[in-house]
Amino acid sequence: MTGADAPNVGKLRRGPACVVVIFGAAGDLTHRKLIPALFNLGVEGAMPDNVVILGIDRDPRDNAAFRKLMRDAVVANATWTGKQLSAWLAFEERLHYMSGDFADPATYAALQERLHTLDALVPESEGHLFHLAIPPSLYPLVITNLSDSGVLPRIGPPDERPFARVIIEKPFGHDLASARALNAVCRKAMAEHQIYRIDHYLGKEVVQDLMVLRFANSIFEPLWSRHHIDHVQITAAECLGVEHRGKYYEEAGVVRDMFQNHLMQLLTLTAMEPPAAFRADSVRDEKVKVLHAIRGHTPDEMHDFAVRGQYGPGAVNGVAVPGYRQELNVAPGSTTPTYASMRFLVDNWRWKGVPFFLRSGKRLPAQATEIAIQFRRPPHMMFPLSTGEKISANVLAVRIQPSEGMSLQFDVKVPGFEMRIASVKMDFDYAEGFGTAGHDAYETLLLDCVLGDATLFTRSDESESAWEILDPLLTHWEHSIPSHFPNYAAGTWGPAVADDLIGRAHAEWRTPGIPDIQVAK
Ligand code: BG6
Repeated sequence: MTGADAPNVGKLRRGPACVVVIFGAAGDLTHRKLIPALFNLGVEGAMPDNVVILGIDRDPRDNAAFRKLMRDAVVANATWTGKQLSAWLAFEERLHYMSGDFADPATYAALQERLHTLDALVPESEGHLFHLAIPPSLYPLVITNLSDSGVLPRIGPPDERPFARVIIEKPFGHDLASARALNAVCRKAMAEHQIYRIDHYLGKEVVQDLMVLRFANSIFEPLWSRHHIDHVQITAAECLGVEHRGKYYEEAGVVRDMFQNHLMQLLTLTAMEPPAAFRADSVRDEKVKVLHAIRGHTPDEMHDFAVRGQYGPGAVNGVAVPGYRQELNVAPGSTTPTYASMRFLVDNWRWKGVPFFLRSGKRLPAQATEIAIQFRRPPHMMFPLSTGEKISANVLAVRIQPSEGMSLQFDVKVPGFEMRIASVKMDFDYAEGFGTAGHDAYETLLLDCVLGDATLFTRSDESESAWEILDPLLTHWEHSIPSHFPNYAAGTWGPAVADDLIGRAHAEWRTPGIPDIQVAK
């Protein structure tokens, strides 16, 4: 059985010795996520301590300057003990650097030479991993050059050694056409099993746990369909604004930034049929089937299926913040959406008629990502309710972050002589239960990649199918310029039209993190 199709349950997860090459070594992602993840994997014993890391970027600097750059960025932000500090000093010795122009073939010839030298430092190395932490516009150029120079060979079967794998960051394409073009570039350069399209949401502990919740328990599956579920709400709310990423965000907007990848992934994992095995292709086949079953919309129907918004000035957690148009590198009359909510229908046997509501926005009142499964209300209420009193629906909420965990909300009788009903919840909290909320997503995903396990990475057809759903909406929105932006104040739950969108299904947006007990009023 090969790395790509071997079941990955319960295995001791220890990566092989290898050389990791990071394009964009001086960028944000490298010091914020990649280097800390590689360091932690070493400390935790999940990667051998002779893995060598080569950073490439334009600016000239030597190994010592690169090590200092990483030390200043990583160590300064950590609260480490002496043991971790000395582990860092040992790790740092394995950081190497080369400068080069990504467009110049000479860079790749030099890289080939450099890899020979570095391979000699890791005699048992099983291969090379190339991580593209660079602006997406450079992906085709770098992939083509890597392939043309022979640095990135096409590998036959997935278990052939040495391996050569490429991690590509999101966004994968700017629209359907560019995603298809990028896939074509990738396919020309390498086999699909060498490509790891990363979506860090798939590495989050609770996102993986969603599969365990659904498929390792027998109590949920009988309820997991249109027979018992009224609707599903998937929320990714952020208190933060666009920070220093105005230039990127102006091009992307919330749909490309959050929906095409993270939110569609959460939707497919919630809606997919049970895969036959926990293997990369079995899982991804089921996710793609969900995407194919999502109902498309004509331009006339778009307003009924999706709404957008942009934040104006306001206050988040009591702190005054500027509007989107006042952020750095944002056009004063920008029409880029920073909020969207959408209603999807999955036209298959299991989900026919059950709306999936997705929403994400910047500068909302809470930082919270969750999937809430709202069950149908009882068909008949035998308890007398006073006028206006409403019984809450049962909700299973999967908290992806923060306070990773899940809760089930149901109704009980309030102690006393009267028949009064209250909503309570049973709660499981990861940190409380296990003493840890798990690893950073990048640790999980980098480890999976060097192990050759693509289960938590996006396949080419998955990425294109997600674009097929959202591309018509993006085109429609780009042709109908909004005149009403900004339409929500920072620190509020988005524009009023979002309430209408869900209201049409006789539902309301949940406020993530509901109190433990709610007495019906
Ligand atoms: C990134 C987006 O992919 O995900 C950001 O580009 C967003 O805009 C981030 O803030 C959210 O990730 P997380 O892990 O903080 O939920």
